[in-house]
Amino acid sequence: MPAAWTFAVARDDLARTTLVDGPVPEPADGEVLLRVDRVGLTANNVTYAVLGESMRYWEFFPPEPRGLAAGQGLVPLWGFAEVAVSTVQGIDTGQRLYGYLPPASHLVVRPVRVDATGFRDGAPHRAELPSPYNAYRLTTGDPAYRGDQEDLLILFRPLFFTSFMLADQLLDNDCHGATQLLLSSASSKTAYAAAFELRGRGPRLIGLTSAGNVAFTESLGCYDRVVSYDDVTALDVVPTVYLDLSGAPATRAAVRTHFGDRLVRDVAVGLTNQVPNAGAAGEVFFAPTQMRKRTTDWGRDGLDHRFSDAWHRFASAAAGWVDVETGHGPEALRAAWLDALAGRTPPRTGSVVQL
Ligand SMILES: NC(=O)c1ccc[n+]([C@@H]2O[C@H](COP(=O)([O-])OP(=O)(O)OC[C@H]3O[C@@H](n4cnc5c(N)ncnc54)[C@H](OP(=O)(O)O)[C@@H]3O)[C@@H](O)[C@H]2O)c1
Repeated sequence: MPAAWTFAVARDDLARTTLVDGPVPEPADGEVLLRVDRVGLTANNVTYAVLGESMRYWEFFPPEPRGLAAGQGLVPLWGFAEVAVSTVQGIDTGQRLYGYLPPASHLVVRPVRVDATGFRDGAPHRAELPSPYNAYRLTTGDPAYRGDQEDLLILFRPLFFTSFMLADQLLDNDCHGATQLLLSSASSKTAYAAAFELRGRGPRLIGLTSAGNVAFTESLGCYDRVVSYDDVTALDVVPTVYLDLSGAPATRAAVRTHFGDRLVRDVAVGLTNQVPNAGAAGEVFFAPTQMRKRTTDWGRDGLDHRFSDAWHRFASAAAGWVDVETGHGPEALRAAWLDALAGRTPPRTGSVVQL
């Protein structure tokens, strides 16, 4: 095992991968060296790469300081890291953190706003990037953390946060008067977590998925009805909000034709099909926007506690919906990436890598 390594993909060909070795970086004064410990991979990470230029996801972890060319990209991952070396008061060697991490053995951060819950990376290159991605949560100051649920946090936390905020925004707006919510890529974690949050709150929940994923999606019990992409025309034409996680242009077209003026909202949430199609939607959902509203309404602690209560309810159910498959080391990370990119990971599989 090399001292330090980085896994990168070619930005113009996400299946072309590189693994480079290097020296373990040394933190300067005011910096902390994190050892990346355990991460997950879902379709969401593929979306970060597909939108790497337009949404600036490539800028979180620049390739050049790691000896990689600018045309390479480090796909952001979510997971746990440990403090390996600290030059910052209040942050100690051995502390464990959850956050946005590079596909690499190490990350140097410049902590600011250090408190009992964690810190933010104040590195200059991250200053203009969306702030929720810059927060690192200490396991000891986090009401959502439970040691025996680390893999669920790795796989679901950012997705569930999106789902929680999406459901909250819909309910906050009386679901725009819709009696039906239609979710594409209904077998995805983000979609079924949103359905879990919205279940029993008014509108009927309809899941749209691939024919091969209908049985899995039905088995979750989150949706009132699950149909395959070919069966959009079988759905009742009632006031409907379309929550699009697939981004598939053909599905959007079929939904628009079928529902006509009964389609009260068409919201782009994701793009599991890897075709940027948000421009064709009526609006784009971006969780940090609703997060800012609720931070104002409820305060940071109020939002934190509402989120962690919802998380614990969800985690108890979701533990039975995912089979965690754990790989080890950089080659397992590469394999998990290529599977996610090719859409080969079954919806029941939760891909985790111990680095
Ligand atoms: N707006 C936001 O703030 C936000 C936040 C979090 C996530 N998201 C987005 O939500 C989407 C779902 O993410 P996730 O991590 O929850 O997904 P996931 O659990 O990994 O979902 C896997 C599902 O996505 C579909 N899929 C995966 N690969 C595919 C491929 N190559 N081609 C076609 N379909 C494919 C399949 O669903 P079906 O067969 O059911 O189509 C598959 O079962 C992503 O696009 C993600 O970026 C958005």
